[in-house]
Amino acid sequence: MVRASDISRFRKCIKLHNKSNVSDISQIPDFSKYSPIQSISELAPFISTTLKAYPSRSRYVNQQHFYQNQNILERDYLTRSPHPVSLAQLAQYFDDSSTLTKQKLISSGQFVKEELTIRIAHKLHLLQMLPFSVVNNFHFCQVYESYFNIFDRFRRYPSIKTLEDNEKFVRFLKRILSDFNTLNLPHLIMGALECHILDLYPPAEMDKVVSSLLRARISRRLIVEEHLSITSNFNSGKKKNTLVLGDIFQECSAKEYLLEAKDMCENFISDKYYKGIALPEFVIAGDVDLNFYFLPAHLKYLLGEILRNSYEATMKEFIRQGLNQPAKITATVISNKQSFIFRISDRAGGIPHDDKTIWSFGKSKNLAKESLSNFHKLPGLQTVSLYDYMYENTRKSSLTQQYKFTSLEPIGDTNLPESVYNFERPLQSLLKRSSRYKLGIALAMCKIYAEYWNGDLTVHSIQGYGTDTVLKLGNLMHHTDELQLDKV
Ligand SMILES: Nc1ncnc2c1ncn2[C@@H]1O[C@H](COP(=O)(O)OP(=O)(O)OP(=O)(O)O)[C@@H](O)[C@H]1O
Ligand SMILES: [Mg+2]
Repeated sequence: MVRASDISRFRKCIKLHNKSNVSDISQIPDFSKYSPIQSISELAPFISTTLKAYPSRSRYVNQQHFYQNQNILERDYLTRSPHPVSLAQLAQYFDDSSTLTKQKLISSGQFVKEELTIRIAHKLHLLQMLPFSVVNNFHFCQVYESYFNIFDRFRRYPSIKTLEDNEKFVRFLKRILSDFNTLNLPHLIMGALECHILDLYPPAEMDKVVSSLLRARISRRLIVEEHLSITSNFNSGKKKNTLVLGDIFQECSAKEYLLEAKDMCENFISDKYYKGIALPEFVIAGDVDLNFYFLPAHLKYLLGEILRNSYEATMKEFIRQGLNQPAKITATVISNKQSFIFRISDRAGGIPHDDKTIWSFGKSKNLAKESLSNFHKLPGLQTVSLYDYMYENTRKSSLTQQYKFTSLEPIGDTNLPESVYNFERPLQSLLKRSSRYKLGIALAMCKIYAEYWNGDLTVHSIQGYGTDTVLKLGNLMHHTDELQLDKV
């Protein structure tokens, strides 16, 4: 019988090990070094589970299940194709007016249920096509199980025929958005890093897998959020969608978002060095008063990460050169009919890496090890396994009630008023990480998000001088009919 105190002792050993050096996960750590009083026979039961071909508590990754799901997956859901939808279509299901009606709401709910089941089935298939050693990686396994769990929950969900059914469905969607699935994003990236370190899959191919899963994830969440938004509009008596997509897109002031990102960076810098350290002057130029419709959480993440890089590099250069004042950082805002451009220019000496690696999740093995080790230090992530919660609490209605990694996802958010949307909370948790934890993934992630929104992210680095990071975002109000946005 495994006691809780044993597990906590074992976790402490792992933490100690991680602290002492960048761990090489291909080797079994020498536990006797950290726990001289505990014999290896006491620790062995914990270690042996990690060496098995199948995770012991898994419902989906085992001899019976894995690759043996032809009936449900292959003969049914994989034969159906996802329906790429444009933003305009999303807001106008089965009705050519923009007025919300009871029927439209119910149809939208039914569509979300069917579509999400098909989409997640295709992504499960993508994961099944990877070598078993990849899916069997601890982190990928968590993603796979979580996807299968979502697939099963959506598949078995009864059809939505009345407004009451829809209310229940909305509660179900909110639970899915806030339970252990929120960990898929970090697990996916940690899995990619481990596979790179262990040479389990070619890094360039892995980048494609991660990008495809992330893009599909954005699309799925968008479809879900849209349904939550129009349901909340309908319930509050607001029968007309102000914008193309419920109220998910909001009018964003370029200046406000830039200043918010700047404040965040200044806080990180003071935290990293000391309060009162000289900070770079921050200048906003160009179309300073630009207001545009965008997804607030994505904009916050994109500008936050880009500015963070410029601030970090500028401060490093300031200290390295012993300057009186850190160099200025300039954000230039440019807009035209099709797109909005943010050019962040710094004079921090340019990017020290080659062009290819900065866009990859894998980077070099050493960088991947460093990133992985920092991921393990993120609050709430280091020891959590979905098995701890998924199967042991199945009878409880809401997993969030007992979910312990609250530092990553404040539970309070699930109690937000219906009208407040907090799209992509996992992104915000990433953004809030301490500056001690460099993950080495921000540019790669931002590129995926920028491209998703018909935009792009490029860096122009002049060695010895500085860097221009250019974020281009499509004007969504001009692209509402494009299917291309929806990466199924
Ligand atoms: N403006 C910049 N000036 C100098 N170097 C930069 C700049 N922007 C990015 N870099 C370099 O590119 C690398 C990759 O940046 P990226 O944001 O993807 O990862 P990171 O900053 O190392 O980690 P994190 O994921 O925590 O942000 C950085 O480590 C840094 O060396
Ligand atoms: Mg960065």
